[in-house]
Amino acid sequence: MAELERKHGGTPVPTEWTYAPAPESRDIVSIRDRYGLYVGGEWIEPRSGKTFATIDPSTEEPLAEIAQAGPEDVSLAVEAAREAFENGWSALAPSERAKYLFRIARILQERSREFAVLESLNGGKPIRESRDVDLPLSAAHFFYYAGWADKLEYAFPNRQPQPVGVAGQIIPWNFPLLMLAWKIAPALAAGNTVVLKPAETTPLTALLFCDVLRQAELPPGVVNIVTGDGSTGAEIVKHPGVDKVAFTGSTDVGKAIQRELAGTKKKLTLELGGKAANVVFDDAPLDQAIEGIVNGIYFNQGHVCCAGSRLLVQESIYEQLIAKLKRRLGTLRVGAPLDKNTDVGAINSRQQLDKIEELVQTGRDEGAEIYQPPCRLPERGYWFVPTVFTNVAQSYRIAQEEIFGPVLSVLTFRTPDEAVEKANNTPYGLSAGVWTEKGSRILAMAQRLRAGVVWANTYNRFDPASPFGGYKESGFGREGGLHGLEPYLRF
Ligand code: NAI
Ligand code: MG
Repeated sequence: MAELERKHGGTPVPTEWTYAPAPESRDIVSIRDRYGLYVGGEWIEPRSGKTFATIDPSTEEPLAEIAQAGPEDVSLAVEAAREAFENGWSALAPSERAKYLFRIARILQERSREFAVLESLNGGKPIRESRDVDLPLSAAHFFYYAGWADKLEYAFPNRQPQPVGVAGQIIPWNFPLLMLAWKIAPALAAGNTVVLKPAETTPLTALLFCDVLRQAELPPGVVNIVTGDGSTGAEIVKHPGVDKVAFTGSTDVGKAIQRELAGTKKKLTLELGGKAANVVFDDAPLDQAIEGIVNGIYFNQGHVCCAGSRLLVQESIYEQLIAKLKRRLGTLRVGAPLDKNTDVGAINSRQQLDKIEELVQTGRDEGAEIYQPPCRLPERGYWFVPTVFTNVAQSYRIAQEEIFGPVLSVLTFRTPDEAVEKANNTPYGLSAGVWTEKGSRILAMAQRLRAGVVWANTYNRFDPASPFGGYKESGFGREGGLHGLEPYLRF
């Protein structure tokens, strides 16, 4: 603990402020040794006979054995979803569908601590984030779409909206439960049934969610959860019984899915990568901007498709801003995900850590200047120190490619035109940030930035009522809001 040295009016004051560990207890979660597949409202053993281990990335400790679903398993899940769709769910009174969604939302709220702990254990994200962001937003998504379920005719007047059928949904590992909510809530509200595959590194909250479905007495087969790696995902995509595919993940896999589905009748939405510009003008409130920059890139270890990974700073405030940013970086606490004081948790997987390390090395090799605050990392597990690259040219790989880690690339500009040109100079177009005091400048920038979401004087703000999605190689289709229902409806 802190040394007590200086006297202040007779009371000793600490000269060093260190944080005492404040771990959240993991007793609230009970993890089974192994999990089957959730198909037709039952747990079934995988016909493939294959399993794999899921771990805690902060310690590399194995948590459970997970089923690796093969083609036969995917078929069973799709059949269960089809049967549930035809025999009841799609014909159910919309107000009844809404009740199930409300129930799911309520149960998620009631069990939020359990889910938050499990999310942090399996994915490495700080408990502060899973508790304050992932869980409340997941519940909010179900509440929000519950409200639409019986109002579709008003949402799409004169268009006679109909459900599409069976939705095949494939989600990534950065926001496991939240991405599940983004996918399942609108699908069910619109009257579809679902086969969902969580990412191979983070299946546990999706499997716990099956418990919620049972508690909510959702009819069997309406939601089926199959676990496995990319090959399981590919089986879902190409299964002839699937009417709509929704994918969030890498641009490469998104492109492969689009090729696979070309010429079929399946509907498709893709939410892929990003390389967002966070643009700071010289009239911006600097201290707030620093918080926005930090939140933009170090939130969830930078495993965020809309992360503000390119900082564009107006030249006149460059020195001042970088000095403040470096100082702020020194106060970020990197460490145990379950510690309530942790700001930056563990990298999600060995594979992702390798990718971050490789791209950071290219940054050094290409001539960018690297800054990392002094930081002691745990010995086991996957970790990466919050990093800033300055002196970055637009052509460098760290300015072009999605790193998906806690690594910021800083570029400068002189005029708004130059800022727009640099911000848009990317194959992606998911999100952007603007920091300025002038409302007119915010509006002008928002018009010119080719990004699905533009935040002004804030960053990484989400709301179920607000549509989210990209342009260009960031994908197409929107999730959230009224727009998020459309991919799940036929007209
Ligand atoms: P990925 O795209 O391979 O994985 C995402 C999901 O797709 C997982 O559930 C995976 O099992 C599944 N999948 C993989 N191959 C598939 C296929 N051929 N057909 C159907 N489903 C398939 O992403 P990965 O390898 O985990 O990460 C690589 C990079 O992708 C990251 O470094 C990051 O840059 C980007 N990424 C972007 C995300 C986003 O939110 N936009 C999320 C995850 C990764
Ligand atoms: Mg992959």
